[in-house]
Amino acid sequence: MREVRNPAHAPPPDDTDKFTMSRRILVTSALPYANGALHIGHMLEYIQTDIWVRYQRLAGNQCQWVWADDAHGTPIMLKAEAEGISPEALITRIKGEHERDIAGFLLSPDNFHTTHSDENRELAELIYKRLSAAGYIVKRTIKQLYDREKAMFLPDRYVKGICPNCGTADQYGDNCENCSATYDATALKDPISQVSGSVPEQRDSEQHFFALSQFGDMLREWTASGTLQPEVANKLKEWLEAGLQDWDISRNAPYFGFEIPDAPGKYFYVWLDAPIAYMASHKHLCQRTGESFEESWTPGTDVELYHFIGKDITNFHCLFWPAMLEGAGFRKPTGVFCHGFLTIDNLKMSKSRGTSITIETWLKHLEPEYLRYYYASKLSGSVVDLNMNFDDFVTRVNADLVGKVVNIASRCAGFISKRFEGQLATSYSEALLEDYAQFSSAQHIIMQYYEQREYGKAMREIMLLAEHANTYINDQEPWVKIKDEAQQDEVQLICTVGLNYFRVIVTYLSPVLPELAAKTERFLNTALTLPSLEQPLTDHAINRYKPMMTRIETSQIEKILEETKATDKAATAVNDDTASTQFEPLKPEISIDDFNKIDLRVAIISDAQPVEGADKLVQLTLTIGLETRNVFAGIKAAYKPEDLIGRSTVMVANLAPRKMRFGVSEGMVLAAGPGGSDLFILTPDEGAEPGMRVK
Ligand code: 2FM
Ligand code: ZN
Repeated sequence: MREVRNPAHAPPPDDTDKFTMSRRILVTSALPYANGALHIGHMLEYIQTDIWVRYQRLAGNQCQWVWADDAHGTPIMLKAEAEGISPEALITRIKGEHERDIAGFLLSPDNFHTTHSDENRELAELIYKRLSAAGYIVKRTIKQLYDREKAMFLPDRYVKGICPNCGTADQYGDNCENCSATYDATALKDPISQVSGSVPEQRDSEQHFFALSQFGDMLREWTASGTLQPEVANKLKEWLEAGLQDWDISRNAPYFGFEIPDAPGKYFYVWLDAPIAYMASHKHLCQRTGESFEESWTPGTDVELYHFIGKDITNFHCLFWPAMLEGAGFRKPTGVFCHGFLTIDNLKMSKSRGTSITIETWLKHLEPEYLRYYYASKLSGSVVDLNMNFDDFVTRVNADLVGKVVNIASRCAGFISKRFEGQLATSYSEALLEDYAQFSSAQHIIMQYYEQREYGKAMREIMLLAEHANTYINDQEPWVKIKDEAQQDEVQLICTVGLNYFRVIVTYLSPVLPELAAKTERFLNTALTLPSLEQPLTDHAINRYKPMMTRIETSQIEKILEETKATDKAATAVNDDTASTQFEPLKPEISIDDFNKIDLRVAIISDAQPVEGADKLVQLTLTIGLETRNVFAGIKAAYKPEDLIGRSTVMVANLAPRKMRFGVSEGMVLAAGPGGSDLFILTPDEGAEPGMRVK
């Protein structure tokens, strides 16, 4: 058996064997929920995956990407109900839309399946039965909130109430956005069902738990074994030190999912069968290709397995999933690659800001390769967020792809087809061969960057080559020499050299720009492969050049943003309607004396810092006149701390100080919105001075 190693974090000890020994690799991306459109935030991960997969194939490895829609769970059940159709009809329609967008963005999964499939049902049951037989499934009776109007138990996100820890109103049933406390939904004060608007009652319910707590030793070892990015491993270490809780993997009917064997009315929780669909999609693929499914999932296999995911679902992939695999006797992942979120102008993408750009809208106005390149130029192997700024996007794509890369071909192609009947020069000089060798040997560093998901570094190397090619053409001035009869051969050679530069550069870019690569193959009449780059293309007939890429116009971006604002506004208006009439009922009337008790002041945010260990909190230093206050606000999902510094806002200045886990909070800032990333802090008009009373 071949040596198994994890080359994705460190360069392999010997570079050469990577190209002589074909690795077998299975890759997955997180499964999109089958209840909504794909947007450019999803695309960040899918493009990151696709580039890696295409790079592996270019490097000569056998790399398969297995993927699916995530089709189960309460939101899908309720959405289908709201549309008056069956969940099956909904997930079939959405799968079609997702497949259209996947093809539109030139993504190359080997299989795109669904969690609602026969293969997934069989595998989920098999894993459950194996875990159960090994003693890892325990039944416990717990109290849960029940909505009598809808006749259903309420998942945590479908109930809101007052935080039992800090008293903040309007908090979800799992944790508080203000103080980050986590709790049981039954602990919420004054709970309201988000499904019907009624007050739920507590009922006993028997649930099935996966004994995650028995996997502590294995997970401590696995997470520290170099399998994960260092920052992810550190975060997991903290969680593991805090101790593992058993995990409730069952949900009560009505639920859209798979019923648990021998437990009528109980269903697998969506997060139990979602990762299993990685296996199910692979099994479905193997049925088509005749390859062995079992071999890849047996412990000790030399098939490498990598999951691309967003940082928000680390616990599912780095704790629950490896424990389930281990407990059921399957292999564990070779690596989990976490990425950060997409921000737009440093803010989270959001429907109410009109920045939630769907793939359908994008493709109406712009080619997918522009976004593929932009993301590639900014992606690294770390979990930091990636910021999109449209001016930067337009400048970078136009300057690099149109100005530097495609320009090489358009400057050389005309001469070859018009003056030399499409024929490249017959040979290179020694000096030119030396220069060419430098170009073709750049592949080692570029491929290594791809391997480590350092795409930004790879793009910078490639652009240096493109600059070199353009300088060469500028210096040689073929458009001057063509006028001199004696220099015709010289011009043919210059353009041949230029087109060979282009060929090498596009080969290196082909994992990012597959469409440009396909056009280049047709134009140069040759396949773009790494081994063929060893020698320049000479004495060879090429085809007539057709323009390959045009500049982005700002009007195209404007159209995308306008269309997105219009659709998002319509969607938010519909939701707001339901929210204001049903989910956020008016509070009981108060007297003017009650109102006068609240001291509202204009405040300047003089400092804003993230809070270590609290995902949702920002620590604000607020200046009101001569006084400063320390306030913890649950607004991290909507704002980056650094963007808040210097802004004015309004605060409740006479709220009794509250002791929180991270310190004492001395007031509250005012913000509007449903919560999470859709939250807007109030800002007074210009002229309002810090300390002024708000009346
Ligand atoms: O967070 C999400 O969007 C989930 N649908 C991802 C599932 S990934 C996997 F585990 F299946
Ligand atoms: Zn709280």
